[in-house]
Amino acid sequence: MKRRDLLMLGAASPWVFAAAAGAPPKRLPPYVLTTPTLVGHMLRIADVRPGDIVYDLGCGDGRIVIEAAKRFGCEGHGVDINPQAVAVARENAKSAGVDKLVTFTQGDLFDLDISRATVVMLYLFAEMNLRLKPKLFRELAEGVRVVSHDFDMGKGWPPDKQYDFGTDAIYMWIMPPRSRRGA
Ligand SMILES: C[S@@+](CC[C@H](N)C(=O)[O-])C[C@H]1O[C@@H](n2cnc3c(N)ncnc32)[C@H](O)[C@@H]1O
Repeated sequence: MKRRDLLMLGAASPWVFAAAAGAPPKRLPPYVLTTPTLVGHMLRIADVRPGDIVYDLGCGDGRIVIEAAKRFGCEGHGVDINPQAVAVARENAKSAGVDKLVTFTQGDLFDLDISRATVVMLYLFAEMNLRLKPKLFRELAEGVRVVSHDFDMGKGWPPDKQYDFGTDAIYMWIMPPRSRRGA
């Protein structure tokens, strides 16, 4: 199965998350999530530090914002369309002792106000990244770091940095001033 199909499985199949409702710590199948090693790379590439406010749009089991809270004490917000993913993320935050720092919302990431973010993490489809770009341009302040696992933003917005880790790629953009955002 191709990576893209596996990602769709994560978005479309509640059973993927229901299967994770076993013994703690709550886990979801690794193929639809960023591995712990790559989570570390994403945090480093985004230069996450204390005081950052980290958003993960399509947060799955919450691992990215939970790790940022554990390592740096960051405030974090995750949103996922899948209620079971959100339930697992909340339990994981509690188990990790960071449930006062992170919140998880069930819903469509396109409806979430992300204007407080200083870092935005993504692991979505290429098409979703393209649809998301106008929202990022509208809502994010200058200097916010946007980091995406495996999918870029198309030719219209090349990344400031790209890192390759075997079969995975991590892309990073720094939000330009509004005067340079164009359409
Ligand atoms: C590939 S997983 C990434 C999970 C996590 N960010 C990570 O890197 O491990 C993509 C997640 O996006 C969620 N998702 C897909 N479309 C969404 C939407 N429109 N709004 C919110 N979440 C969405 C899926 O349910 C899935 O949990």
